Amino acid sequence: MSYEHIIVDRPADGVGRVRLNRPEALNALNSALMDEVNEAMLAFNGDATIGAMILTGNDKAFAAGADIKEMDGKTQIDMLMTVSLVDRFDFKKLSKPVIAAVSGYTLGGGCEIAMACDMIVASESAVFGQPEINLGIIPGAGGTQRLTRALGKALAMEIMLTDRKLGAQDALHHGLINRVAPLDEYMNVAVGIAQKVAQRSQVAIRLTKEAVNKAYEMTLEEGLAYERRNFLVAFGSEDKVEGMRAFIEKRRAEWKNR
Ligand code: CAA
Repeated sequence: MSYEHIIVDRPADGVGRVRLNRPEALNALNSALMDEVNEAMLAFNGDATIGAMILTGNDKAFAAGADIKEMDGKTQIDMLMTVSLVDRFDFKKLSKPVIAAVSGYTLGGGCEIAMACDMIVASESAVFGQPEINLGIIPGAGGTQRLTRALGKALAMEIMLTDRKLGAQDALHHGLINRVAPLDEYMNVAVGIAQKVAQRSQVAIRLTKEAVNKAYEMTLEEGLAYERRNFLVAFGSEDKVEGMRAFIEKRRAEWKNR
């Protein structure tokens, strides 16, 4: 499959990578690019040889937001009649974990698409922000919700109301991201995490991702019941039998993903 705005590859066994590739526009997210991202991620999700995905940009920009030049010509009804950005970035629908590997500008829709991933690894030069306020709009791809849940109300408000930018270390400190690494290392760190995911039982990985995501949607009681259900599903898997046998026999488990 060949794409115009993204580059797709497999940097390691079991790992699929989607790289945003509109460097001339700091990877601004236009509709064509987002369609390609969705298509590529769905293809990796359906590929039994892939266990985890990486979504990345380039060292200067993960993405500087939704494409302002494209939105400039759009009416309210145009926006209403297209797939919403929240739905486009709904990576919960992917059963395989997605790791954002971000560097440089991670702004607006760029920050939102990163937050829609399951984990975020950043280079030291990554800058997070929601500058929509400067355009007379508000975040439209989950920013008001995901940033607030990640950072708490006070800091999220400041970022969205005053365009305060958050550097990588601050983002780590406040729990927005998983890791910070030097520019020449952050991709290796992301690939390393993706490999660790890909090497586990894909049955258990899928059930875990689903249950963690429910923590955002459910009360504690409902979430605990959901976890119990997924725990029981895992107990019925061949991988459960293999995992426990391998522990007792002091050997490495051979996952069947069944
Ligand atoms: N949309 C379209 N084009 C963009 C863009 C965007 N979000 N961000 C950057 N570009 C383009 C610029 O227009 C410029 O193109 P030209 O050379 O053709 O003029 C090119 O990328 C390089 O950008 P700059 O010259 O501006 O680069 P800089 O280094 O001086 O500044 C920046 C970098 C601070 C990120 C600045 O580009 C900027 O402020 N970009 C907009 C950021 C923004 O407002 N993002 C939110 C968008 S709205 C949104 O995302 C809504 C949502 O919730 C989904």
